[in-house]
Amino acid sequence: MRFALETPRLSLRLRDHADAEWNLELLAEHDPPNVSFGVEEMRERLASQRVAAMSSGLGLLTVRRRADGAALGYCGLIVGRSTVDEPEIVYELLRRHHGHGYATEAARAVVSAAAETGRERVWATVRPWNAASLRVLDKVGFVRHHADVDGDGELVYLKRELS
Ligand SMILES: CC(C)(COP(=O)(O)OP(=O)(O)OC[C@H]1O[C@@H](n2cnc3c(N)ncnc32)[C@H](O)[C@@H]1OP(=O)(O)O)[C@@H](O)C(=O)NCCC(=O)NCCS
Repeated sequence: MRFALETPRLSLRLRDHADAEWNLELLAEHDPPNVSFGVEEMRERLASQRVAAMSSGLGLLTVRRRADGAALGYCGLIVGRSTVDEPEIVYELLRRHHGHGYATEAARAVVSAAAETGRERVWATVRPWNAASLRVLDKVGFVRHHADVDGDGELVYLKRELS
C-alpha cells in the first residue's frame, strides 16, 4: 500500500522512531494502562515495525492534522487475524482528538489505498461494545460478516468489498 496519504484535513505517513512519545501516551490511555516499557524501547519497536512494513507492504501510518502537524493517532493495515491478501484495518486516536470525524477520514483514505493495490477485500475485528469503532466502520462501508468468541469475549468480524 502507499505509505503517504493525504485527505482534506489529514496527512498519513508510515510510523517511525520519532513517533515514540505520542504512541506511549496512547498506550497509557488504554484500560488498563500499558506502561510496561519506556521511550527507548518504543523507538526500537517502531523502527523495526517500519522495516517490516517496507517488506510486507502493510503498515500503520501516523495520522497528523495538516493544519498544525499535531499527531492524532494511527490508522493502517495489518495481517492481524486475517491474511496479507485480505488484511485488517486498525486505528486508534488519542482521546483528546476523538469526536471530530478524524478516524473516519483516515480509514477512508486507508481503504482507498488498499483498493489501489488490487486487493478485493479488507477486514475489521471489533468488540461489540465498541460503538464508536463500529460506527466508523459503518460510515466507511464495512458490513458485519460473523462473530466469534475468544479469551476476551465476543469479537465481531466485518468486511469491506473493494471492487
Ligand atoms: C474508534 C475511534 C478511533 C473513533 O475515533 P473518532 O475520530 O472519534 O471517530 P469519528 O469521529 O470519525 O466517528 C465516530 C462515530 O462514532 C460515534 N460514537 C462515538 N461514541 C459513540 C458511542 N458511545 N455510541 C454510539 N456512537 C458513538 C460518533 O458520534 C461518530 O459517529 P457520527 O459521525 O455518526 O456522529 C476512537 O474512539 C478510538 O481511538 N478508540 C480507541 C481505540 C479503538 O477502539 N480502536 C478501534 C479498535 S477496533
